[in-house]
Amino acid sequence: MGGVRESRILIVGLGLIGGSLAAALRAAGYGLENRPGEIVACDPDAGEIALGIEMGLIDGGDTRLAPLVEGASLIVLAVPVLAMESVMVELAGVLPGGSLDGTAPGVVVTDVGSTKAAIRDCALRAFGRLPAGLVLGHPIAGSEKSGVVASNPRLYANHKVILTPVPETAPAAVDRVRALWRACRAEILEMEVERHDQVLARTSHLPHLLAFSLVDTLARQDERLDIFRYAAGGFRDFTRIAGSDPVMWRDIFIANRDAVLASLDDFEAGVSRLRQAVEAGDGDAMLAIFDRASHARHYFDSLLNQTSYQAEYQMQQQGRLTFLASPGGRVAGRIRVPGDKSISHRSIMLGALAEGVTEVKGFLEGEDSLATLQAFREMGVAIEGPHQGRVIVHGVGMHGLKAPSGPLYVGNAGTAMRLFAGLLAGQAFDTELIGDASLTKRPMGRVADPLRLMGAVIDTAEGGRPPLKIRGGQRLKGIDYDMPMASAQVKSCLLLAGLYADGETRVREPAPTRDHTERMLAGFGYEVHRKGDTCWLEGGGTLAAAPIDVPSDISSATFFLVAAAITPGSNLVLEHVGINPTRIGVINVLKLMGADLWLVNEHEVGGEPVADLHIRYAPLHGIDIPEDQVPLAIDEFPALFIAAASAIGTTRLRGAEELRVKESDRIQAMADGLAAIGVEHTVLEDGIDIVGAGEREVAYGGGRIDSLGDHRIAMAFVIASLRAGDEIIIDDCANVATSFPGFTALARTVGLKVREETDEVAP
Ligand code: S3P
Repeated sequence: MGGVRESRILIVGLGLIGGSLAAALRAAGYGLENRPGEIVACDPDAGEIALGIEMGLIDGGDTRLAPLVEGASLIVLAVPVLAMESVMVELAGVLPGGSLDGTAPGVVVTDVGSTKAAIRDCALRAFGRLPAGLVLGHPIAGSEKSGVVASNPRLYANHKVILTPVPETAPAAVDRVRALWRACRAEILEMEVERHDQVLARTSHLPHLLAFSLVDTLARQDERLDIFRYAAGGFRDFTRIAGSDPVMWRDIFIANRDAVLASLDDFEAGVSRLRQAVEAGDGDAMLAIFDRASHARHYFDSLLNQTSYQAEYQMQQQGRLTFLASPGGRVAGRIRVPGDKSISHRSIMLGALAEGVTEVKGFLEGEDSLATLQAFREMGVAIEGPHQGRVIVHGVGMHGLKAPSGPLYVGNAGTAMRLFAGLLAGQAFDTELIGDASLTKRPMGRVADPLRLMGAVIDTAEGGRPPLKIRGGQRLKGIDYDMPMASAQVKSCLLLAGLYADGETRVREPAPTRDHTERMLAGFGYEVHRKGDTCWLEGGGTLAAAPIDVPSDISSATFFLVAAAITPGSNLVLEHVGINPTRIGVINVLKLMGADLWLVNEHEVGGEPVADLHIRYAPLHGIDIPEDQVPLAIDEFPALFIAAASAIGTTRLRGAEELRVKESDRIQAMADGLAAIGVEHTVLEDGIDIVGAGEREVAYGGGRIDSLGDHRIAMAFVIASLRAGDEIIIDDCANVATSFPGFTALARTVGLKVREETDEVAP
C-alpha cells in the first residue's frame, strides 16, 4: 500500500468526498488482507456510518468525534466549509497538546474544503495558531451526487489535489498528506492559499453560480417546468453542476465571498460586451469572442491532458493517428503549403509587444503556432482569429502583458518555449513554461544559461529540461554572448530578452542561422545591427505594429520538393514559398544532388523574400553535404535523407549533431525508419551515410515506421512511399498538425497515395 504509513485514518464527514477517499484507499489495499491500517469515520448521521461499514469502506465510526480521535494518526476533515470551525474547535479540545507539532509520530490534520483562506482563519481561531501538523488541501474532484452511497474509488484518479501549506506547516506533515493522495492516484500540486481561492473562484465557483442561476431563472419563468422537456444537450452540459449539494455551495460562496465577487465582476463585464455585440448585430465582435473562447476551450483540454494542443484535439475526435502510404504515385500540380512556422510564432510575439494592431496574413494554423497564440491570450492579449490564416493582434506594448493564471503550455513547440524564455525573463511577473512529453525531454540550458548571465532567474528540471520557472521583476543587463551552437532559437531568445535589458545585447553565431527575428524587429521599427557573425540591439525601445504577410514554409514545401525530385515524371510548382537566404539549404543541397529546380516570381513580402519553386524530376546523385549548409537546412534533413535513399551513390552528412535534440533524435529515428524499409546506412554521432538505390525504379521496400511523434519523420516516410516497393505504415502521426495541418489531403491532390487511419483510444 504505497507510501501511506498511517496506523489509523479518521475521516470526519462521510459524504461523497470522505466516502470516496475511503473507497480509493481501500482500492489501493489500505487496511486490507492483514495489512496494517484502519479507516474510521465520524458523521452526524448514524445511517451514513452504518452504510459506510456495510459497503466495506470503513472499519468503524461514531456520531461523536472525541472517541475516535485517540489512536488516529491522520485526520481528514471532509465536512462542509462552514462546519470546519466547529469541528476544529472540538479537535483542539480533544487532541493532546503538542500532538499537532508536525513531527513524525504526531497527528496530521488535513481537509478537503473548496476554499482555503476561510479555513485557514478558522484554524487560527480554533487552535490559536497554525499548527505545524495541519496541512490544508483541496481535491479538485466532485460530482453532483452526494452521500456515502455515491462513493467512487476512482473519483480522485488523475485529478488534481491542491495542497496549500503555509510557512508554519511542517514538510514532514505535507509529505504524509501527499502520500495519502498519491495512494488515490491523484496529481498533487502546491499553491498559496490566496492564489488557490482566486483560481477556484474562477474555475469552479463561478461556473457553479452561473449554473444554479440559469436553472433557477428558467425554473421560475416556467413553474410547471415545461421547457425542460425540450432542453437539448447544450442545456444538459451547461447545467449539470446545478444539481450539486446546495448546502455545500452556500457555504462555499459565504467562505470565498471576495474572490467570487471579483470573478463575477469580470464575468458581468464579459456578458455585457457580448450583449452589446448581439444588440448591435456586430458579427465580427461576436466571432472574435466565440473564436477566442472556442480556442481556449480546446487548449484547456490539452492542458488538462498535457498533450499537444491540436494533437490532443484530434485524438479526442479520432484516436491515434496512423498514415498508410501505398507504393508509387505521381507528383504534379501547383500547390501552396501552409505558412512559415518560425515567422508565425514571431508574428504573434512581436505583435503582442507592439503598440497598435498587427494584422497577420498567412498565419500557420498549426498546433505549435496556435500554442504561442494561446499563451499570449493567457497573458491578456486580445487576438482575433485565426480565420483562414488571418490573425489580428491587439498589441499591449512592451510592458502590457499580464501574469497568466497558470503555467503556459506550449505543447510540442521548442521555438515557443525558447523564445518565450527570453521574452518572459524581462517581465514583471513570474511564469512557468511547460510542454508535452517530447518537449519535456529537450535541452533548455542553452537558453537558461545565457539568460542567467543577463540577470534572469530561471529554474529548470534536472539536466536543464522543462518545465522552466521564470522569476519576474529582474533587472536584466545586456551581454556579449558567443553561442556554442548555431541556433536561431537561442539567438532569438537573447534578442527578445535584450529588448528588456540595460545596454546592448550582442550575440555571435558560429554559423548563420535563420534571421526572422532580426528582420521582423526591423519591420516593427526596432533597430537591430549586424556585423559579420554578430548581431546586437539596445534594450529599452518600443515596437510599432506593422502588417505581416507570412510566406509558405520552405520546411513544409521540402516534403513536396523531395517528392518531385525522386519521382520520375514529376512536375510541380510550390507557390509563394519563403526563400530567406538563411533557410534555403534544402534548395542548395537538392541542386547539388542534381535536382531540376528553379525559382520564379521572386519578390519580397514584409521584409522576407518569397518565390514560386518549380521542380521537375531529374536523377539525383549522392553527395557530401557541405557542412555550411547544415544550419540552413536544419529542419529539412528527414526529407533529404529520403532524397539520399533514392539517389545514385552515397550521401554523407556530418556536423549535424543538433539533429539529435529536435522533436526526436532525428538521426536515430530516421536511421531506424530507413532500416525498416531496407535502406543501407551507417549512423555517426554527428551525421549519417546513406547508400542510395542507384538506378532502381523501386528504391526500397515497405515497412512499419514509428515516427516517435515527430511530425517531420512522419511526413518524410510518406514521401518515401513514392519509390517504395510496398506499403509504408507510419505510426503516431497526430503531431503532423504541429506544422502541417492538412498534409495528407494536400499530398493526395498532387498524386500521393496516402490515407489516415485512427484507432479508437479508450476514454
Ligand atoms: C527555429 C530554429 C531552429 C529550427 C526550429 C525553428 C526557429 O531550431 O530547428 O524548427 O524558429 O528559430 P534551433 O535554433 O534549435 O536550430
